[in-house]
Amino acid sequence: MTTDDRERRVIDAAPTGLFIGGTWRAASGGRTLAVEDPATTDTLCRVADATPEDATAALDAACAVQQQWAAMPPRERGEILRRTYEIIIERADELALLMTLEMGKPLAESTGEVTYAAEFLRWFAEEAVRIDGRWAREPGGKGRLVTMKQPVGPCLLITPWNFPMAMGTRKIGPAVAAGCTMVVKPAQQTPLSMTMLASIMTEAGLPPGVLNVITASSAGKTVGPLMTDKRLRKMSFTGSTPVGQRLMEQAAGNLLRISMELGGNAPYLVFDDADLDLAVDQAMIAKMRNMGESCVAANRFHVQQGVAEEFAARLAERMGALTVGRGTEATVNVGPLIDGVQRTKVAELVDNAVDHGAKVMVGGEAPDRPGYFYAPTVLQGVPQTADMFAEEIFGPVAPVYSFSTEEEALAAANGSDYGLVAYAFTRDLGRSIRVMEGLETGMVGMNKGLVSNAAAPFGGVKWSGFGREGGREGIEEYLSTKYVAIDA
Ligand code: SIN
Repeated sequence: MTTDDRERRVIDAAPTGLFIGGTWRAASGGRTLAVEDPATTDTLCRVADATPEDATAALDAACAVQQQWAAMPPRERGEILRRTYEIIIERADELALLMTLEMGKPLAESTGEVTYAAEFLRWFAEEAVRIDGRWAREPGGKGRLVTMKQPVGPCLLITPWNFPMAMGTRKIGPAVAAGCTMVVKPAQQTPLSMTMLASIMTEAGLPPGVLNVITASSAGKTVGPLMTDKRLRKMSFTGSTPVGQRLMEQAAGNLLRISMELGGNAPYLVFDDADLDLAVDQAMIAKMRNMGESCVAANRFHVQQGVAEEFAARLAERMGALTVGRGTEATVNVGPLIDGVQRTKVAELVDNAVDHGAKVMVGGEAPDRPGYFYAPTVLQGVPQTADMFAEEIFGPVAPVYSFSTEEEALAAANGSDYGLVAYAFTRDLGRSIRVMEGLETGMVGMNKGLVSNAAAPFGGVKWSGFGREGGREGIEEYLSTKYVAIDA
């Protein structure tokens, strides 16, 4: 089989319809939307483009089985997740290829994401059987206070294109474990990883109606009506802060429980006592994982004056040595950005920094080839007045700023509306503690450029949102607490 045959086979295996009540169907009216390969701009296939009526049908299906699903023994719910985990691991190569084709990231990274995605299912398979409550004696002595946890009910889960499978499993995993039914709306650019996941979960024994998938070109128009439907009890969103703000306004009318995993502007602090080899190695991960298209990507490198020049030079050398190309090729480290809009935004941010006096050490332009590529870029001497200081770059661009004191570093790190993650590199224990406590973020990578882990509570503060995904906290987002008063 040639590479092209294998690609075709993997694309053809992915369902292209809407998954409602356990069956695949076309969108009402038959509209479809194109799924593009961002490395070539070719159309890979077309998927159903749902209407608001289709979205309501998906919620009908979720509501119809909610009670039954909540009553299913937790062990059985957990075992469906565990079986899904096993099938995903078995088929990791095909799933990774599918992800690379629709999203662009290199195969090794897609394989990493497939494993990361599966880990959420394994983790929540184990959590399904650990949902418990409390029994307490009332302080006055007479009564008993009994507390139990119950599924919140039908959920709407809106997932992004940058991690098309893992951002799904870290919502679907805890929802399934908790006993919630759901409607999932994947990003229009990357629907295939999600439709494939739905098909695997069905194979693993997930009953019809528990998971419904709606692919659509306009999230607002299609799932908007669900936000005001009183049968919906919870919405979880991963995506940009402006869209999150709009969704919150809609959710307010229906008093929906919400979890928001929004934008970031991660500072990466390197103190002059840091292990510089480690700081450079980890910077490559913190910046270049997913071509920088991640809300936890290092967005600002703040380096202490004594080592700033050396750090920038070493980072530029490493970035310049990366191979850019179609992610299906084994030698490629950097794939395309997701689309033309994203690439234009990255290019504009770089141009703006240069206009403000930044020096391009490497990269700084889009290569002359088809696809939405942008060269790995390091900028030095970036003033804090440049737009990229305040904005999420979401691309392979590393701006290096310098600072002189610890106080200055913390002030710069915290001088952002966002607060998802920060990274800090120092060998001084006292400073580590001061810095990890002083950073206004939901997560900190201490001498480490990657914090993501299914067993850890992922989430932010400030404009990066609220709620936690993964870890012991993740399932709480899908559970309500009920208290019962009893007199003995
Ligand atoms: C994100 O970029 O949205 C999440 C990345 C991760 O889980 O590591």
